Amino acid sequence: MEESELDSSELGTYKYWKEAYTKEISNFEDHGDPGDVWFGEESAFRVIDWICKCGIDKDTPIIDLGCGNGHTLSELAKEGFTNLLGVDYCMEAITLAEKVAKSEYPILKFQVFDIITDDVKNLGSFGLAHDKGTYDAVSLNPENAKENRRKYMEQIVDMLTDTGLFVITSCNWTDAELMRHFSEKMKLKCVIPTPQFKFGGKVGSVVSSVVFEKI
Ligand SMILES: C[S@@+](CC[C@H](N)C(=O)[O-])C[C@H]1O[C@@H](n2cnc3c(N)ncnc32)[C@H](O)[C@@H]1O
Repeated sequence: MEESELDSSELGTYKYWKEAYTKEISNFEDHGDPGDVWFGEESAFRVIDWICKCGIDKDTPIIDLGCGNGHTLSELAKEGFTNLLGVDYCMEAITLAEKVAKSEYPILKFQVFDIITDDVKNLGSFGLAHDKGTYDAVSLNPENAKENRRKYMEQIVDMLTDTGLFVITSCNWTDAELMRHFSEKMKLKCVIPTPQFKFGGKVGSVVSSVVFEKI
């Protein structure tokens, strides 16, 4: 079935994120405000809770794709996970994440990496890949969203170990759409029940959190 693409948005552009994180760095330096928890804390914690209970070892290599300010990784570090890498294509996001993590979670590693164009072989492989809002941003890109979504999925498969899990939270795609997109390359493990939210001016869509495993 031919999937229709989302209406594009500035949230799908590099320019938007560069400006957003430049402001957030100033806010952090001036007031200690680490910035947004995208889609709300409740939604974030449901996923973190699921990861804590899914049975993986605490030293499993985990990557957060489009990590922004690094909030998810800080929470995982708080829960005792030790092998945590955050990547984002926006240098300012990585600078912010490093500044936020510096005093409390020096164990966290961050790296500038474009999930669409960079080579995953340079990252290593992961027992769990996490995404909150990044596949959304890729899908909202005014140029090549469809092709970029396809590349994104291939990159995920290539970075996972044979038993690796992919945990995605989206505000623009429903559970059913995510299952349709990713089941071409991975197997559905479960849907994590999540609350409702709004993103990028789009009508009150449901936040969807879905877990896939490598086939
Ligand atoms: C909605 S924000 C979510 C940030 C973070 N995951 C969170 O939940 O707080 C989307 C993030 O995806 C990043 N991003 C968008 N396209 C990307 C790409 N091609 N490669 C890496 N990161 C990307 C943006 O810079 C931004 O940090």
